[in-house]
Amino acid sequence: MTLKDIHAQIEGYDRVLDEVKTARRYGTDYRIMKGEVARVLDLLHPRTLSLRVSEVIIETPSTKTLRMVSETGYLPPFEAGQYINLFVETAGVRTSRPYSISSAPGMTAYYDITVRRQQGGFVSEYLLEQVKPGDRFESSGPAGQFRYNPLLHGKELVFIAGGSGITPLMSMIRETTDRGLDRSIHLLYGNRLESDIIFHDELKERADRHKNFIYTPVISEPSKKCSELTGLLSGDLIKKVLGSVKGKNFFLCGPGALYDYCMPELEKLGVPLNRVRREMFGSPVDITSDPGWPQNVKKGTRFAVKVKGKGDLSALAEEPLLVSLERAGYTVPALCRSGECSLCRVKLLSGKVYQPRGAHVRASDLKYGYIHSCAAYPVSDCEVLL
Ligand SMILES: Cc1cc2nc3c(=O)[nH]c(=O)nc-3n(C[C@H](O)[C@H](O)[C@H](O)COP(=O)(O)OP(=O)(O)OC[C@H]3O[C@@H](n4cnc5c(N)ncnc54)[C@H](O)[C@@H]3O)c2cc1C
Ligand code: FES
Repeated sequence: MTLKDIHAQIEGYDRVLDEVKTARRYGTDYRIMKGEVARVLDLLHPRTLSLRVSEVIIETPSTKTLRMVSETGYLPPFEAGQYINLFVETAGVRTSRPYSISSAPGMTAYYDITVRRQQGGFVSEYLLEQVKPGDRFESSGPAGQFRYNPLLHGKELVFIAGGSGITPLMSMIRETTDRGLDRSIHLLYGNRLESDIIFHDELKERADRHKNFIYTPVISEPSKKCSELTGLLSGDLIKKVLGSVKGKNFFLCGPGALYDYCMPELEKLGVPLNRVRREMFGSPVDITSDPGWPQNVKKGTRFAVKVKGKGDLSALAEEPLLVSLERAGYTVPALCRSGECSLCRVKLLSGKVYQPRGAHVRASDLKYGYIHSCAAYPVSDCEVLL
């Protein structure tokens, strides 16, 4: 294919070429366009959104979908797999949590977020127990890199989800099946109990209607009358269900434990790392059992954290520094809360923190002493600069 052939396939290419010729000949007064780029960028990537809960849908005994509409009448487009960071003020603490958008990108009137209760969870319990239609929230715009790229991810996809990890994948499944996209998806969806499965009826129905979508629920603590596959999402089970893994691209989403269990299993099956995309929901359940955690720092230890020029606080070793700062009333910008986006960077002036694997600290952060506070745990007294 020549360059000319490629240009012929780009819609509007000739028109743009004509405009360039005219501008070169007669000149163009770009002042009339002032602010235009900023206006369009702001529409596509707004810093914050004002949302209102229009409906609360009960999905399972521990999960609800909050249907969010825009207060301004406009929601920016997103790609299936992305999340919004929902700002919440509860029990006197201003904090935030990321939630994947579970509705399809083609549904422009609302974003659905589907929240599963985390036992003792600070925000999920509040969202499930107290939020009702009409309540208002602010959130970030859609963000995140857990999404399908047709140039990189081929046409044979395997989705492995655990519990609430179904949400970004649900958006991709809805998009693929609603729009008849040319790719196939096999979903292996692990839950503890049959009653924990989110979107079960819809997933079954989509699998019945669409040849390119296969749905395999897997239950780890089945009831006597369970008719689904049982066990954990082990390499043996994955191989039995899929046959060959050759040429397939994997999307893995759920709590850290799912990732810790499934990655070695996929490795055993010979799936190359570059064929696995993953998103982990939430901080590790017990950071002190992380293999690299300093053994001399016991659970429950508190350290003094000085916030330069602002005050000080006492921080629990096993809690991300971001949470301790929020508890003490400090506002730190945050988006992913999982070490990926670097928005919560703070400068560590003295002391030590533990940063687990998965915290994507950049070389420049390391060089200049910045840490991602959502994925950094104090292991000595510290001083930070916000
Ligand atoms: C990209 C991404 C997408 C996600 N999408 C989804 C989704 O679609 N659905 C879903 O259900 N989950 C999703 N999650 C997980 C979600 O963001 C929360 O981690 C989850 O809802 C649990 O939050 P929680 O506040 O209930 O629990 P935690 O934050 O883990 O709270 C646990 C404990 O910490 C204490 N605590 C925490 N923060 C404070 C505070 N500021 N002040 C006082 N005490 C505090 C609480 O007392 C509690 O005991 C996603 C996570 C990521 C990273
Ligand atoms: S909020 Fe994204 S790295 Fe901390």
